[in-house]
Amino acid sequence: MGAYYYDGGLRKRTKTISITSGKGGVGKTTLISNLALYLGKMGKRVLVLDGDLGMSNVDIMFGVRSRSNIYNLIIGEREISDVVTNVADNVDLLPGGSGIYELQDLDVYQKKALIDQVDELAGEYDYMLIDTAPGIAENVLYLNAAADEIMVILTPDPSSLTDSYSLIKVLNERYRVNNFSVLCNFVKDEKEALRCFQRVSDVAMDYLNVRLQYKGFVPLDQNLRNATKSQQLILNSNPRCPSSFAIKHLGEKVSGLGQIQEASGGIQMFWHQIVGVA
Ligand SMILES: Nc1ncnc2c1ncn2[C@@H]1O[C@H](COP(=O)(O)OP(=O)(O)O)[C@@H](O)[C@H]1O
Ligand SMILES: [Mg+2]
Repeated sequence: MGAYYYDGGLRKRTKTISITSGKGGVGKTTLISNLALYLGKMGKRVLVLDGDLGMSNVDIMFGVRSRSNIYNLIIGEREISDVVTNVADNVDLLPGGSGIYELQDLDVYQKKALIDQVDELAGEYDYMLIDTAPGIAENVLYLNAAADEIMVILTPDPSSLTDSYSLIKVLNERYRVNNFSVLCNFVKDEKEALRCFQRVSDVAMDYLNVRLQYKGFVPLDQNLRNATKSQQLILNSNPRCPSSFAIKHLGEKVSGLGQIQEASGGIQMFWHQIVGVA
């Protein structure tokens, strides 16, 4: 793996954060897109990896249409610079497409070619945010397992609580992940958010060897739903509504923590783990 080297701290480390959930429709794509927009506005360089093949729609959120994805990269049809698209100030998008399901089954030449390509991204970004498909399918789990931080989105829906617990459990048992951050979406207020968090956290601590960290909440906000319907990012269309304030607050938390997180594996480690050459 010629392209794999430690940068000796000269290049910037990219913090990789996957945003995931036990079931769909909990707000992953909406939150990731707005969070990326906010971090970009704050001068952070962000790469969004759209890893949800079934509902890959980060591009739609940003009003662009991506024509190529990781699959084109794997088969050598495209270069990384053709596949990565700028979607907002300081924000680039890397669409996974069907390539997301192929990553683990590459032959050694394909792996090397992919790593050489993605190594070009090292040092370019402060954050890589990964939008995953919901659930516990193997081809979702490995994206989470390779990230520095896994952010699980919870909603007050009772099935969201049990599905999130199952997700945390398999990631812990199969991939030995024991730190998770949790964001509560669709809640009335912080009180409800903390109640949801506590419920999952209590069970997780009783039955699993994991630590859950509460990252905050985004309130149920009709403005946000309307923004999505009209293909707008809420931070652009209505920056002063409750969900926008909450997303900005989350962005501040994420970027504040990012600076002190030095032990993380970064973007290179992420890709090496993904294709199994770490
Ligand atoms: N806090 C919120 N308040 C109101 N609607 C929300 C909120 N978060 C997400 N939504 C809406 O929920 C729907 C599903 O969100 P989406 O981001 O596509 O979920 P996922 O990516 O998890 O499947 C979208 O219509 C979105 O606008
Ligand atoms: Mg989605």
